[in-house]
Amino acid sequence: SNTTRIAPSLLSADFARLGEEVRNVVEAGADWIHFDVMDNHYVPNLTIGPMVCQAIRPHTSAPIDVHLMVEPVDDIIPQFAKAGADIITFHPEASRHPDRSLALIKDHGCKAGLVFNPATPLDWMDYVMEKLDIILLMSVNPGFGGQSFIPTTLAKLKQARHKIDQWTQLGGQPILLEVDGGVKVDNIAQIRAAGADTFVAGSAIFGQTDYKNVIDTMRQEIAK
Ligand code: DX5
Ligand code: ZN
Repeated sequence: SNTTRIAPSLLSADFARLGEEVRNVVEAGADWIHFDVMDNHYVPNLTIGPMVCQAIRPHTSAPIDVHLMVEPVDDIIPQFAKAGADIITFHPEASRHPDRSLALIKDHGCKAGLVFNPATPLDWMDYVMEKLDIILLMSVNPGFGGQSFIPTTLAKLKQARHKIDQWTQLGGQPILLEVDGGVKVDNIAQIRAAGADTFVAGSAIFGQTDYKNVIDTMRQEIAK
């Protein structure tokens, strides 16, 4: 896809003022709100769940992009759909039946996608292509904000881009290619060049006081 999206991760926002943070970052130009769900089981951290998604929902009309880092995944999918999630992605190793989990997300009216950890092979997508609206490549190990971008992700992004382009050229539906972890003003152009069209950024945006300045600069970098 030629269009690009910037999805600030609330993980680095001020959790005491989440509604205001959501409004401010969308006002600053965010396309999506990235919502990181961690269960202290699949990943070594504990964050926010469907109740918080429901609480922020009235604060924006921007799509809420729910990234599930939980195991198992199926029980929580209907709860996030009811809480107003637009997109739900999960890690295929965390689901006993990834094809069924993708179908469950779509049955609940949300866009669905798989998330790939740095060491997870892209093969997981091959037989579920028609159920995918999005692929999310992790460029850090999941669990924390503020980590450094793992450079081998660039080659993996090119491979994912190739798989998606082949699929759409054969008449398949569009599939977005999202990247998450260590995305900054100074590497986003390279990440775009490797084929990503949707960019999650947590600390790079919420770590600055002027969100609009960061988002504007990121857009200039990916338009180059
Ligand atoms: C990590 C989360 C990311 C994280 C990104 O497990 O999935 O969304 O918030 O944060 P930064 O942009 O700071 O690496
Ligand atoms: Zn995330």
